[in-house]
Amino acid sequence: MTPAPAPPTPGPTLLDLHPAPAALAQLVIAGMQRRPRQLPAWLLYDDEGSRLFELICQQPEYTLTATETALLEAEASAIAARLGPGTLVEFGAGSARKVGPLLRALAAEGCPSTARCGYVALDISAEHLRQALQRLSLQHPCQPLLGICCDYSVLEALPDHPLLEAPRLGFYPGSSIGNFEPQEAEQLLARMRVLLGPGGKLLVGLDQPRSRERLEAAYNDRAGVSAAFALNLLTRLNRDLDGDFQPQRFSYRAWWEPVHSRIAMALISRCDQTVSLAGRRWSFAAAEPLITEYSVKYDRASFAALAERAGWRCAERWSDPAGEVALQLLVQADSAQMPAAG
Ligand code: AVI
Repeated sequence: MTPAPAPPTPGPTLLDLHPAPAALAQLVIAGMQRRPRQLPAWLLYDDEGSRLFELICQQPEYTLTATETALLEAEASAIAARLGPGTLVEFGAGSARKVGPLLRALAAEGCPSTARCGYVALDISAEHLRQALQRLSLQHPCQPLLGICCDYSVLEALPDHPLLEAPRLGFYPGSSIGNFEPQEAEQLLARMRVLLGPGGKLLVGLDQPRSRERLEAAYNDRAGVSAAFALNLLTRLNRDLDGDFQPQRFSYRAWWEPVHSRIAMALISRCDQTVSLAGRRWSFAAAEPLITEYSVKYDRASFAALAERAGWRCAERWSDPAGEVALQLLVQADSAQMPAAG
């Protein structure tokens, strides 16, 4: 008897939960009123910003991406065995280039059905997400995929979808947790716990603190891509919130702040100037910074304390030989008291 043809795999679906323009204006106004002025880091990722971030990841000074990718490839089987079957939910998936080894390893682990080792990508850039899912659907034709365009840091719940009925395995690589200030990072980890549901697990990638020279070089690459990435924020604000920033009137700087264990990135006003944005006028003094992002570097103990405050418990941890990047598996703190399933 000829076997029945396999049912066609549905193409990747994309759900759009992107914040409305009014919400964007409110966020930007609130950030411009802060001292120092500071805008949410996710605003950097319009289509052009996402493209420039991809380029940053290829700069020789920015070793985080290559090191983490190699670590994921080397440890994918061990990680998949520890995660167990479920749907991978990646927060801030971007180009989704890191998830491949995990998807393969989860499938090889013997998911009870492919529907139980699907992939859900969350990202703020719809176009980037669409391209990433298109590429992944060719590389992993048997694994069901879903994209959700959203600001995951304010998402109340994941939408109803068959893929999200399986156990949810959170994946948050790239040390993006460092782009939130510690209190926000704690709230975000707590939110992820809710989004992933009871028994959910979360694998977090963490760039480790190291010398000031290495870190400052990573965020001030010689090719000037980090600068272009930050300056693109002004172009984006001009387009989306009717601004009149002149990018050439700002210069980019990144510096290490040891007290906070973080890199600060800012656009520095080159002169006294006034700009229009979101229907208001804003003045900048010469040398005044507009903070575009922080990148906090958590060592093992400080991240464990943060995760615990958010209701997680540190389980296994994988690291590259030089100890520059870690992958920390978190399990729900109360699951320690719960009897094992089955
Ligand atoms: C996405 N995130 C983890 C990057 C970082 O290293 O903080 C963002 C970045 N901005 C400039 N370079 C990299």
